Amino acid sequence: RDARVITMTRQVLLFVSLLSIGSVLGQVSYTIPEEMAKGSLVGNIAHDLGLQTKRLASGKARIYTRGSDEYIELNRERGVLLVKERIDREALCRQTTPCALHFQIILENPMEFYTVIVQITDINDNAPTFKKSEINFKISESTITGAKFVLERAVDLDVGINGVHHYELKPSDNFALKVHNNADGNKNVEMVLQKPLDREKQEQISLVLTAVDGGEPQMSGTMLIVITVLDANDNAPVFTQTTYKATVTENSPKGTVVAAVTATDADQGSNSKITYSITNSVDDVRKVFDVNEENGEVTLIGNIDFEESQNYQINLLASDEGGLTDSCKLTVDVQDVNDNKPEINIMSKSNVISENAKFNTVVTMINIDDKDSGENGNVQCFISDNLPFVLKASTNNFYSLVTDSELDRERASEYNITVTCSDEGVPSLSSSVTLTLQISDVNDNAPVFERSSYEAYIVENNTPGLSIFTVKARDADWNQNARVSYILEDSSVNGVPVSSYVSVSADSGVIHAVRSFDYEQIKDFQFRVKAQDGGSPPLSSNVTVKILIQDQNDNPPQVLYPVQTGGSLVAEMVPRSADVGYLVTKVVAVDVDSGQNAWLSYKLQKATDRALFEVGLQNGEIRTIRQVTDKDAVKQRLTVTVEDNGLPSRSATVIVNVAVADSFPEVLSEFTDFTQDKEYNDNLTFYLVLALAVVSFLFITCLVVIISVKIYRWRQSRILYHSNLPVIPYYPPRYSDTLGTGTLQHVYNYEVCRTTDSRKSDCKFGRAGSQNVLVMDPSSTGTMQRIQSEKSILDEPDSPLEVSPSVTE
Ligand SMILES: *[C@@H]1O[C@H](CO)[C@@H](O)[C@H](O)[C@H]1NC(C)=O
Ligand SMILES: *[C@@H]1O[C@H](CO)[C@@H](O)[C@H](O)[C@H]1NC(C)=O
Repeated sequence: RDARVITMTRQVLLFVSLLSIGSVLGQVSYTIPEEMAKGSLVGNIAHDLGLQTKRLASGKARIYTRGSDEYIELNRERGVLLVKERIDREALCRQTTPCALHFQIILENPMEFYTVIVQITDINDNAPTFKKSEINFKISESTITGAKFVLERAVDLDVGINGVHHYELKPSDNFALKVHNNADGNKNVEMVLQKPLDREKQEQISLVLTAVDGGEPQMSGTMLIVITVLDANDNAPVFTQTTYKATVTENSPKGTVVAAVTATDADQGSNSKITYSITNSVDDVRKVFDVNEENGEVTLIGNIDFEESQNYQINLLASDEGGLTDSCKLTVDVQDVNDNKPEINIMSKSNVISENAKFNTVVTMINIDDKDSGENGNVQCFISDNLPFVLKASTNNFYSLVTDSELDRERASEYNITVTCSDEGVPSLSSSVTLTLQISDVNDNAPVFERSSYEAYIVENNTPGLSIFTVKARDADWNQNARVSYILEDSSVNGVPVSSYVSVSADSGVIHAVRSFDYEQIKDFQFRVKAQDGGSPPLSSNVTVKILIQDQNDNPPQVLYPVQTGGSLVAEMVPRSADVGYLVTKVVAVDVDSGQNAWLSYKLQKATDRALFEVGLQNGEIRTIRQVTDKDAVKQRLTVTVEDNGLPSRSATVIVNVAVADSFPEVLSEFTDFTQDKEYNDNLTFYLVLALAVVSFLFITCLVVIISVKIYRWRQSRILYHSNLPVIPYYPPRYSDTLGTGTLQHVYNYEVCRTTDSRKSDCKFGRAGSQNVLVMDPSSTGTMQRIQSEKSILDEPDSPLEVSPSVTE
């Protein structure tokens, strides 16, 4: 305050000197700072004007101010000007400089006035201010450096040096402050971008702009500048990895998520909205995979086949809406699944193989192919056991099916060979193929007759051409090799070619009789039939056929005794003393047939006295059945029927004359009546003797015949069918065939009776096992129709009937 007073005083002195020059006008000026306290001294006006304080009082000195408030008052007693009101320069003059108060001091008696100018000087009592305490900017981060942003100026009511002096902007990382001095003295304040903004680093920047004045002390005002950094698409999306790996098993269903890729974008909003896509163009990746645009999940949309492609390279692109992109690669390895069956390819194949094919003959070649890999593609092939084939593996999945053992079409004419191939996957897949192989025939089988030998029966007296029997041979071969022809082999029967006996039908094997057979001439014969197949060379076999001729009852019994002579008369003598059962004679008959057909039975057909004689049914013995009496006629005539057992039976009748007498004369006398022809009477004795001789002769003949037959049969058994002996037309009454081959079922002992004594019968039974044994096979002997047991024959009662004696003539 002292300093101001000094300067003020100097100014007053200056004005006083002016005043003294133009005292008329009387002008004084003072300079005071604003904002002085009330009552502060402005100036000693009395002194400066050179007036006495008395004059001031007498002149009623006062201040005259036009229209305005009075800031200054006049103290008349002391003759000084004092501050009456607070003087605010800014309110008084605003920005006008210099700022002065003009008023007059008026005096009366005499009227005098003086002009007083009080100059108000500025003091720094106002700080710079901004209109807004905060302003906002929105600036894109992409704004280039050098961009300018106009800021509001600060206002300082003070003037001069106390006005706004300069500005400061803090912090000054991105922006610099640039102030232009305008022509009107104002300052334009601008903010210039010096370093690019990065929203990603700092989204909002707060700056403080400070305006500082030049007063003492300095004053300042601040404004907050808030900058919101707007996003620009300045960041590309970035994948989290540059390469991704994934695996997928083949045959995974569509829609399977294989992998997920992720990209990030530092930008904001739409600039960070990422869209994923697949960019492969040449391969077919896009047909197999799809990526979810929004979340980057890679899914299957096609079929994954390991056999087609074992891995996929997927190029993925992430792009934001601003068009910035990043790419990455996804490698998808496909894992094999055992999804392919082994394929069996038949490369060459024979459908037919000969049954005499050698070992190791290749039948079929096959090739195996499995598309899978590793274990899944390792294939093993096999065929079922028990086949005469083996599967041989050669390199490169080639197999050959070869024969392993002998083939036999007759055992198996066809093979279904199933080749099964399986891989080693888990689970294993397999496939199979069935090869049908025909075995072709080779003539390796001879015809085989159904039986090792044949025996056929034919009844004698057959019609020539009759089919006797059929031989049959089978050939296991096929077709022509199995076509059997039958051939009669040359041989001779009793010196005659066999072809004159039988013929064989080549096709059917039917054996025909060429001629009619006579059992009494030939009983059996045998020959060989050859069966030959049509193979080349042909194979053959032969069989023995034995034809047995069966007897027919075609011969009637022949009576050997008593001999039936034409006119002579033979009689048997029976003494009157003969007892019951006296053997009168024996009728002897034979039948050249055999068996039942030669089995003779004797019956008394007619008799003079039926009560006196009986005939032994089997032996033909005529015996008395009661005591002969004197009443009985000498002449007795018996008619005996000899009947064989054939069907139909044949018979012969013999008349036996019996004389019941004790002596020849009696007989003779009687027999003269006995004979119808009287011419023999004289010679009766001769005849009787002759008759006896004949009987004896016949008996001996009979014995000779029996012995000779025995000898014959013995010889025949030795040279059976091989001799050229003429056929003996006579056989003893016994069935003596021992050549039957059937099982021994019935044994017939045939009774041979010879009369060795006139009173007794002499019966000798044949021994079993000799010629006297009849062996029959009823199953094959069709003509044997009547079968009687030996017992029933032998047990036939032979006892004479007891009848009352009566003579019948
Ligand atoms: C082979 O197969 C065929 C057809 O399936 C069949 O007719 C034939 O009987 C079979 N052969 C054998 C020997 O199994
Ligand atoms: C008949 O067959 C036998 C073997 O069964 C043989 O030994 C014989 O030689 C054959 N005979 C003829 C004439 O072929």
